[in-house]
Amino acid sequence: MARLVYVSEHPLVQHKLALLRDRDTDPKTFRLLVREITQLLFYEATRDLQLAPLTVETPLGQCAGRQIVERIGLMPILRAGLGMAEAILDMIPNAQVWHLGLYRDHQTLQPVTYYVKLPPKPNIQLALVVDPMLATGGSLIATVDILKRWGLDRIKFLGIIAAPEGVEAIHGAHPDVALHLAAVDSHLNEHKYIVPGLGDAGDRQFGTVH
Ligand code: PRP
Ligand code: URA
Repeated sequence: MARLVYVSEHPLVQHKLALLRDRDTDPKTFRLLVREITQLLFYEATRDLQLAPLTVETPLGQCAGRQIVERIGLMPILRAGLGMAEAILDMIPNAQVWHLGLYRDHQTLQPVTYYVKLPPKPNIQLALVVDPMLATGGSLIATVDILKRWGLDRIKFLGIIAAPEGVEAIHGAHPDVALHLAAVDSHLNEHKYIVPGLGDAGDRQFGTVH
């Protein structure tokens, strides 16, 4: 299957990404940049959303218009995906938001799932999983496993920086999931952090230190 990996070359995305990576960028600016980059990636990732015709009344008469008909669910992977989900929700305020709690254990580097509260059956048609970092791919694979077991088959991922190792892992496990990214970096270091990356995306958004 062809790789569904889309890396935005848009100048705005690339400009803001450089600012985001900067170690001196403070949490407030970091959150703003996550938000802006997410909205730009979301614009590119949603080119294929289904539309249905509708008629609107302008002050001068009737006009044919179109509206999005797909029911969209935003799935932020906690914690770092939160800012991305909020940025998208501003653009599609009727989307459902289903928080998924996973963290990567610092010792084992394996994903640990601690919060999933989905209804018995999917009531959405498209899931947009959001998380700024795709490192080993473990967290995203576990998330997609959960969503597919739930019964969803249309799933896209919006991230900011990926490692080639993570892209490879997702492609092996779930080749149907399209990845929309701002960058694919060089490699993972011995602690499985993305190099050059931006450090810990959760800590940098929320001002915490582990
Ligand atoms: C980070 C990141 C991803 C995960 C990526 O979260 O936001 O969820 O690591 O790593 P992986 O691809 O190797 O699984 P983290 O575990 O630091 O949790 P946090 O957002 O709660 O800080
Ligand atoms: N999680 C992060 O926040 N950054 C990395 O580089 C890898 C995992």
